[in-house]
Amino acid sequence: MPPIPDPIYKPENILLFEAIYGENLISLGGLDAVDNMFSDLDLTGLKLLDIGFGLGGVAFYLAKTYQIEVAGIEIHSWMVKYAKAHAPKDIAPHLKFAIYNQAGEIPFKAASFDLVYSKGVLNHVREKSNLFRQVNKVLKTNGLLVIADWIYPEIIMDDSTPLVNETQKSYQQVLEKTGFKDINFRDDNMIFLNYVKKLLENITVRREYIEKEYDAEIFSTIRGDHQKLIDEINHKRKFAVRIIAKKK
Ligand SMILES: C[S@@+](CC[C@H](N)C(=O)[O-])C[C@H]1O[C@@H](n2cnc3c(N)ncnc32)[C@H](O)[C@@H]1O
Repeated sequence: MPPIPDPIYKPENILLFEAIYGENLISLGGLDAVDNMFSDLDLTGLKLLDIGFGLGGVAFYLAKTYQIEVAGIEIHSWMVKYAKAHAPKDIAPHLKFAIYNQAGEIPFKAASFDLVYSKGVLNHVREKSNLFRQVNKVLKTNGLLVIADWIYPEIIMDDSTPLVNETQKSYQQVLEKTGFKDINFRDDNMIFLNYVKKLLENITVRREYIEKEYDAEIFSTIRGDHQKLIDEINHKRKFAVRIIAKKK
């Protein structure tokens, strides 16, 4: 069955994303979560590729903090336009954003990146083999793939949601099959539990704004989804992980 397109990724939701996650971001934990993702890696001098850059905030932050080149790919062309238009002027020459067709090729040269990363994206990608093969191709030898994602104790097939449930085993298998080695999973669940709690505080402060700009139902859906997430984390039904894999 083809993946269900996620209907939330529309330009009219930009203000909502930013009210929830922070400027130019669409994933949990804000810039603290970006620092956490790379906490044990030195990015100085590296050339990076962001898979699913969203509004571009993660790429902007890394390019600025480390004064490095960051490229990105997205499946939504409006996001490419948005990130190009909103890139801070001083780092714009270090940034390159391109459209990517899920079934196609990553539009960058082979062996041209030291590190490819993806934050909060791969639980939207049901069939990871093609993407990981492509990532492998654009990485230099011994280059790293760094992922922030969710894994589950067991695979649950649910075609009613656009999200995918991977287990540690299924992730490990697809990474090995697509040319990666030295695969390491770090359990970030307690850190993400705090991000979710902070998000709930944050949306409570912005409740009036969210209800005025969108509606009360959207506010209660976001609150309900994140309360459910706290429950899932506490009961170990879902794990936030940081995965690192090396190109063979
Ligand atoms: C939760 S957002 C995260 C955006 C960004 N990484 C961030 O942290 O702000 C998920 C993003 O994944 C993108 N996406 C979904 N499937 C994708 C795919 N197969 N390849 C690249 N990006 C994808 C969506 O367009 C969306 O921007």
